[in-house]
Amino acid sequence: MEKTNKRPIIIDTDPGIDDAMALAAALFSKELDVQLLTTVAGNVSLEKVTRNLLRLLTFWDLKIPVTKGASQPLLRAARDASEVHGESGLAGFDFPDGNQENLLPESAVAAMRRVLIAATEPVTIVALAPLTNLALLLREYPEAKEKIAEIVMMGGALGRGNFGAYTEFNIGVDPEAARIVFDSGLKLTMVPLEMGSIAKIYPEESQKMASLNQTGRMLYSLLQHYRSGSLDSGLEMYDSTVIAYLLNPSMFTVEKLSVQIETQGAYTAGATIVDLAGFYQEPANCQVCVNLDSTKFSTWLLAALANCP
Ligand code: BDR
Ligand code: CA
Repeated sequence: MEKTNKRPIIIDTDPGIDDAMALAAALFSKELDVQLLTTVAGNVSLEKVTRNLLRLLTFWDLKIPVTKGASQPLLRAARDASEVHGESGLAGFDFPDGNQENLLPESAVAAMRRVLIAATEPVTIVALAPLTNLALLLREYPEAKEKIAEIVMMGGALGRGNFGAYTEFNIGVDPEAARIVFDSGLKLTMVPLEMGSIAKIYPEESQKMASLNQTGRMLYSLLQHYRSGSLDSGLEMYDSTVIAYLLNPSMFTVEKLSVQIETQGAYTAGATIVDLAGFYQEPANCQVCVNLDSTKFSTWLLAALANCP
């Protein structure tokens, strides 16, 4: 593989309106080399998220390999978030059909392994969706672990959830997968739900976005149909906080903490037990973003989107 100065990454995603925003920021960044995109059932079904990803790539006229991953969580029934992203997962924009040439016949996990084993430097995995594919990768191909620089994920909550009272969607959909990832010993960074609530997009910013370029207009249309927060009081932008962290970590306050994944609780399966006060005296296994400068985030986001066509 050709060597560049860009940071090599693999993005695992379930587009998803906020995934689309994150992908726009990542795919046109001069600092990131997106080597592979993998899909997983999450916001909507595997077929729909894959179709959405292929449509986004065609909209942007990009050729990046895409592979399909898990169609359901490891042990549980699939649950979606179509009430937030619309039935299609990308409500509000009439996309051209996706170019199927981007879609490889390989499974997501096999493709991740192949890219990792061939990599000349460790690759960062960016997780914007339930962690099913990553858990399968670690379980089936542990030899690929040494080529993973770190996993940076949007997932979990410091406090209350958006999927259950204490459960964030990406972890709550597949708690068993999350536990495998959190117990992996790999370098992990968690950008939790609260950062998305700080990273709100207010009307003034969405208007600016719409005036940037075609991508800004497309995202603006999607935002009219996005149901996390409200257009007037601000829309919560979860997945793009991960790209902000990759490119500009100094806008976050980060702590190294113990994070345990609850898998048994009748009401709390999928809760991330972030031990901020050190109650359990367990070693830190995760870097956790605990605060974000919202002004720096919105300035960064608009600048990142300005690089798009
Ligand atoms: C996460 O859940 C999904 O609906 C979003 O795309 C994001 O990845 C937020 O909890
Ligand atoms: Ca997502």
